[in-house]
Amino acid sequence: MHRELVKHVLEREDFGETVTVAGWVRTRRDSKGGFSFIELTDGSTMTGLQIIADNELSNYESDVLNLTIGSSARITGTLTESPGKGQRVEIRATEVEPFGLADPETYPLQKKRMSFEHLREIAHLRPRTNTIGAVARVRNALSYATHRFYQDRDFLYLHTPLITASDAEGVGEMFRVTTLDPAAPPRVENGAVDYSQDFFAQPAFLTVSGQLSAEAYALAVDRVYTFGPTFRAENSNTRRHLAEFWMVEPEMAFADIGDNSDLAEDYVKYLIRYVLDHNGADLEFFNQWVDEGLLDSLASVVDGDFERITYAEAVGILERADTSFEFPPAWGEDLQSEHERYLTEKVFMKPVIVIDFPFDFKAFYMRRNDDGKTVAAMDVLVPRIGEIVGGSQREERLDVLAESMRIKGLDEQHYWWYLDLRRFGSAPHSGFGLGLERVVQFATGMQNIRDVIPFPRTPRNVEF
Ligand code: 4AD
Ligand code: MG
Repeated sequence: MHRELVKHVLEREDFGETVTVAGWVRTRRDSKGGFSFIELTDGSTMTGLQIIADNELSNYESDVLNLTIGSSARITGTLTESPGKGQRVEIRATEVEPFGLADPETYPLQKKRMSFEHLREIAHLRPRTNTIGAVARVRNALSYATHRFYQDRDFLYLHTPLITASDAEGVGEMFRVTTLDPAAPPRVENGAVDYSQDFFAQPAFLTVSGQLSAEAYALAVDRVYTFGPTFRAENSNTRRHLAEFWMVEPEMAFADIGDNSDLAEDYVKYLIRYVLDHNGADLEFFNQWVDEGLLDSLASVVDGDFERITYAEAVGILERADTSFEFPPAWGEDLQSEHERYLTEKVFMKPVIVIDFPFDFKAFYMRRNDDGKTVAAMDVLVPRIGEIVGGSQREERLDVLAESMRIKGLDEQHYWWYLDLRRFGSAPHSGFGLGLERVVQFATGMQNIRDVIPFPRTPRNVEF
């Protein structure tokens, strides 16, 4: 169907030409003189297109005056320089072809502002709002920039499985995948479920991370990245956790924790620079309506170096802080969101890379440091959000890895292929995972992670 996107029409200057657009009515104002102003949006850009339709149109009374908010239409007209302020071009309609009308009594998105909580209940319609439309464009730009960044640096895009038998993080937060009848599963003699009769003939789950598979490929083709959905059955109801989220996981052979930190810093800066360069109008909107410190905060990320400290240094700073934390900081305890924000917002006022966390609460695959207590782990923390990247140098020594797995209670037999990677041509290697939604939150200033993914999955919420 012929039409041009609003974002392209808004850039045209060949006034007098005929253009056709299609979209949804955001507002309509009827003037006494027998004409109407329609603001039409198609989601291609923040700004809507102003259309002027007058009663010379044969269907002015029958159609134009019925174009309520949310109705869709295709409109052809003459591109005209706009006398009004706020827009440069407008269309003088010569043809208005309505499609679906939206009943003003029942269409939920009227002109007034709605809370994000309320919009979540109409997640199928919320992309028509300014905010959620802008989030979708920024999310798209960050995804595209991700591919550009890694492709330009010779990383292979790797598709790792979503269904897996391995718990990549070793913390048991996995959703089970089964075709057994939950009401009457087959059982072995002692009463336990007989998974040998299940689809995969063993327990299977949705993956929490593609990392273990990515390691196999990095140790063959030098550098890879995954970019796909991951799943966590953790019962956290916070503004930064989802049960289904998208993760970008680069993995590099012959790279240590310093190389890993460099890559993470370059990547995060690249993402933010990319949206500053390509999504200016969207970011201005967020800065005006969502978080007025946003643009300054983004500028501080691209302009300076990230701070780099050890976990021990971080705990020292937190212990000396004159703030009362809900969770008192102490060596051996994981950093909480409040600690991450204190470090990035109060102490350093910029992103912070923390390395060398205690072995006790970090994953089994992280490389053990010579001090015997810490591992070469790496978290990137940013203001407002806290952790957006988690990664590490991987344990490449077979005996040390096997010991870490034993201590963490993992079955070596089960991870036989992962251990094989250390038996045959093992090499130092490193990688990390960046939570896409956390970066979208950071780039837009959106408070709640449920508003930066189209249809959020959280505990007790799988609608839409
Ligand atoms: O720190 P995490 O758990 O690390 C891993 O999964 C490693 N296997 C990554 C790797 O080294 N290849 O998760 C990585 C990032 C976090 O920093 C966070 O940004 C995001 O994924 N993340 C979540 N985002 C939304 N909801 C959740 N429940 C998340 N859990 C982690
Ligand atoms: Mg983490």
